[in-house]
Amino acid sequence: MEKGTKSKKASGEKTSTATKGKSASRAANSGKQTKHSGDNQMQMGEELQTLFVDMLKDIYWAEKALTKALPKMAKASTTEELREGFEEHLTQTEEHIKRLEQVFELMGQKPQAKKCEAMEGLQKEAEEIIEDTEKGTLTRDVGLIVAAQKVEHYEIATYGSLTTLANTFGMTEIADLLAQTLEEEKQTDENLTYIAENNVNFPAGIEDEPATAQHKGKSSSNAMEEEDYEEEEDDTEEYDENEEDEENEKG
Ligand SMILES: [Fe+2]
Ligand SMILES: [Fe+2]
Repeated sequence: MEKGTKSKKASGEKTSTATKGKSASRAANSGKQTKHSGDNQMQMGEELQTLFVDMLKDIYWAEKALTKALPKMAKASTTEELREGFEEHLTQTEEHIKRLEQVFELMGQKPQAKKCEAMEGLQKEAEEIIEDTEKGTLTRDVGLIVAAQKVEHYEIATYGSLTTLANTFGMTEIADLLAQTLEEEKQTDENLTYIAENNVNFPAGIEDEPATAQHKGKSSSNAMEEEDYEEEEDDTEEYDENEEDEENEKG
């Protein structure tokens, strides 16, 4: 679907790949030429370049979505440490968007966002955690940290792979921009672990009655909770192996 943009310049650092086309792509995938520098630099083939740009569009969408999700997560946080962590990462995320725009420019492309299904799912998880936990509890912070770390790990995987790919083809300027963001995502993940270990996890476990106490003696409110649980179970979709087989046959 990106056919129209396929033969555009790979980056500001190199000349057009249009004449090399598929042979360059095959050579790139042969594994024989993984390190390139100076005049021997290998160019990314058309198909790989399209894939690379598509992945940029995906993470561009994800980062933009995060600028809307992070303020909500900050607002929902119980501890000041977590709220500040989210606010700080919002500022970084705005910078990640700007860096991606620079990368698009170096690729000779207009910045374009393509819906990232994975990030949409992760955001839904975060929203569910906010709905399912009580305001002002540390349990909510535990949930928010888990949700946020899943997001960071998605970003780390994406930026890690894209940085490696850019480096493989000697696109150093692009690789440097992506690597800067990668480093900030890693730091954010570590920061979240620090907050969990020092401010949240343990006190969350003792902020109310132990879970087992709820099963002693059946008050009317406990009976209601069980009903809620059953209702939730009805919502659970079971993993259907046959469904996947059908999908595979189609593809
Ligand atoms: Fe980011
Ligand atoms: Fe992030």
